[in-house]
Amino acid sequence: MRDTRMDEFVDQVRSRSDLLQVVQSYVPLKRKGSRYWGCCPFHHEKTPSFSVVPDKGFFYCFGCHAGGDVFKFLSLIENVTYFEAIKMQAEKLGVPVPARQRTQKEIEEDREIADLRKVNTMARDFYHNCLTMTRLGTPGKTYFAGRGITDATIDEFQLGFAPAAWDKLSDAFQKRGVTKELLLKSGLVLAGKQGNSVYDRFRNRVIIPIADERGRVVGFGGRVLDDSTPKYLNTPETILFNKRKLLFGLDRARQAIQQSGYAIVVEGYMDAISVFDAGIHNVVASLGTAFTPDHARLLRRYAKGIYFCYDSDEAGQNATIRALSIVNGTELPVHVIVVPDGKDPDEYIRKHGADAFRALVKQAQPLLDYRLQYVLRHVAVDTLAGKRQAMQDMMPVLASVRGNTAVLSEYKKKLAKLLYVDEEIVTETLRHYHEPSEPVMRQRQDVPQRHILKKEENAQTRAGRTIIQTVWQNPEMLAHALASVPLQGIGDPVQREILTYFAQCQKEGRSFREGGIETKLSEEASAELSRAIAESIDDQDQTRVYMDSLAILEKAYLNARYIYHSSKAASLLEAGDVEGARKELDLANKINEAKRV
Ligand code: GTP
Ligand code: MN
Repeated sequence: MRDTRMDEFVDQVRSRSDLLQVVQSYVPLKRKGSRYWGCCPFHHEKTPSFSVVPDKGFFYCFGCHAGGDVFKFLSLIENVTYFEAIKMQAEKLGVPVPARQRTQKEIEEDREIADLRKVNTMARDFYHNCLTMTRLGTPGKTYFAGRGITDATIDEFQLGFAPAAWDKLSDAFQKRGVTKELLLKSGLVLAGKQGNSVYDRFRNRVIIPIADERGRVVGFGGRVLDDSTPKYLNTPETILFNKRKLLFGLDRARQAIQQSGYAIVVEGYMDAISVFDAGIHNVVASLGTAFTPDHARLLRRYAKGIYFCYDSDEAGQNATIRALSIVNGTELPVHVIVVPDGKDPDEYIRKHGADAFRALVKQAQPLLDYRLQYVLRHVAVDTLAGKRQAMQDMMPVLASVRGNTAVLSEYKKKLAKLLYVDEEIVTETLRHYHEPSEPVMRQRQDVPQRHILKKEENAQTRAGRTIIQTVWQNPEMLAHALASVPLQGIGDPVQREILTYFAQCQKEGRSFREGGIETKLSEEASAELSRAIAESIDDQDQTRVYMDSLAILEKAYLNARYIYHSSKAASLLEAGDVEGARKELDLANKINEAKRV
């Protein structure tokens, strides 16, 4: 449901905001014609490619393609969500935020969250006390001692133990007035087969409490004491516990990440605990899921760079490569800490000590070098086809540093040398690779903007979903859709990922509907795909809805290209490149004509 008072409020804050003044309080600008120019605050540069057009109320960087309105600027520079930026600006300008009437559902949800928090805190204390203060905790103590985990660490992380019984927690908590419903909701207990009995989920496992970035316990991981399976058991998804959005240890690591400038990301919470224990505090772990765009966003609030330190086995390396491509979109510089001899950070530290691990951190490889080594191992670069493949594989890396001329030039040289090709060829390949990434395609969906997006953009997302839905049901329609809007013209990066995957499958002659598609897509993309499939359309409307949707996407695509070429023309003209400007204008005009038909 739309809240019109909210729309009015946003409009009011926008109209009272002076974009130029806001930007100038962060970035020195110089006026040239109707534009103001300065060095972009969102990427490293020496010559200004960041511009503000006050009349139109938008900013745009020709280097890194960051752009948008005053709120977008504030959200990027202050690392807050779009909506938080609106609220910040409203407070500064003294515009009162309308008090929204909370719905019954919201009130209930808040109560549920408060209850869950309470029961999670109780459980953390229960397991911790069980480990440290009771006889039942002995097996847990023995286990931790065997892994070299000290009492100090047990205290720091409030580690615990769940005794080998079915009802210890559920009995104790019910005696203290916690309802079965709440216990079930928290995931701490499971429903038994008979009547309405319940039993403890975590039994005979050491317990690692998992907190959100503000230190509030939201769930637990439990590890077996021996080699039985499953090795780890986690709290199931609850309103509070979403593995794709949580990073273990972030509450403790936050400050150290800000101070050191970077975050170390490891795979397991035992690794994170070990690394922390070794005196390296800027460490977090993903919770057994792949690194997600949400994780990247979360870290970006504190980190200026990410160091991945995954297991050095094949699976770990593949996970690293996948994680790298996720981070690529955020322009955080990435390093990879390589742990030798097939060990994970925890084993390495136990065997070689904290100092040896610190040395590994110092030797962390920049993304390019790591990726290069990986590609060189996987592609036969002594053949022409291999060289071409390697070059393609490296393009995303090169593109990710294109804002930084010095680094880019170093990367190009390195790649050319390793592949025994002329540097010109690298430059040329990169130039072609550039083309797909005109501004639309790089729309950065950093913040949950859905509820305040302009209607048109909402329609785009819906349209994209319809296309996905249609193609899912009629794979032969993909070619039809892509004839109007190429993949790089799909504005929503998640939807683009899905359609790219479909296209890739077709190219390889296999059906994209078969065989574990979820594992091939990022978590966000599989969620979007599920949603598209779930929101099916009435058969008789299908064609009309599809055609309408395609038209919406095509219009958005053409619009974005038009804006891109015409603003490029304007800046070329200002730089005195009349010939270049004319070419861009011709392109813009052609696009404009296409828009009209
Ligand atoms: P240790 O053997 O205790 O050292 O584990 P580890 O820290 O080396 O973890 P591993 O590399 O085996 O797995 C990394 C992460 O994946 C763990 O921290 C868990 O979050 C997750 N994980 C591993 N095994 C399982 C499992 O059987 N079930 C679930 N749900 N998660 C798992
Ligand atoms: Mn391990």
